[in-house]
Amino acid sequence: MPLRVTRVASFLPHLPPALHGFRIVQLSDLHLEPFTKPRHIEQAVRECRALRPDAVVLTGDFVTHSARPAGLLAELLSPLEAPHGVFACLGNHDFWCDAAAVERTLSDRGIQVLRNETRVLATGRGELPMAGFDSRYVARPNLHSALDGWQPGRPLVVLQHEPDVADDLADAGVAALQLSGHTHGGQLRPFGRPPHALRRARWGKKYLAGRYDVGPVQLYVNRGIGCVGVPLRVFCPPEVTEITLLSPEVAGAAPAWSRVVA
Ligand SMILES: [Fe+2]
Repeated sequence: MPLRVTRVASFLPHLPPALHGFRIVQLSDLHLEPFTKPRHIEQAVRECRALRPDAVVLTGDFVTHSARPAGLLAELLSPLEAPHGVFACLGNHDFWCDAAAVERTLSDRGIQVLRNETRVLATGRGELPMAGFDSRYVARPNLHSALDGWQPGRPLVVLQHEPDVADDLADAGVAALQLSGHTHGGQLRPFGRPPHALRRARWGKKYLAGRYDVGPVQLYVNRGIGCVGVPLRVFCPPEVTEITLLSPEVAGAAPAWSRVVA
């Protein structure tokens, strides 16, 4: 199916007014091989570059059954660029294959892999803390130690492969924008929603695709680029997401999702 670009805007709590309009482009679930081919990745990278984002994020599942394609994938991703960096978190498939190898391969190409840590983007217009957690399906990251380097009262973007972790963040009272993937949006949606059998992904059962307000957490679930199980997507096109961050202070709106921008 042809790739779609989705544009959304998030009124992010505590975003410095000078960062109003900061744009992040998200790709997820690239799953290079066996079903997802280099041409699919190349197309996603082209779309991403055309959007000229301030930062790029990649939310896990780079490979599927083996870490071997990670080298080729890193090469295909190398044209990605953004003034404030390209960041990644790892997904369950990356762990099942070889998380250290995937991390090393991406890092060698300048992609900053966040493994249970928070990095502060010093943009020159204000600071934007970005946290990345390991796959919740496979590992059990300690949210509190991973958020060392962030304090309440500051903005926060969280990269977490599995969307249902938004509940944990909400329970901990963390106000953040969480960017996830994992579900593929169901991948097969012949009747507008996936068959029950395809909704079994652990930590991907509750939030399937798109925008959710989960307490203080604004969650976006990207449908991903690749396929697993079958080389097919039905009424569930691959997705590149552009997220524009808005300062509630500038826009005078409550922290929550805004309308679709496009
Ligand atoms: Fe996954």
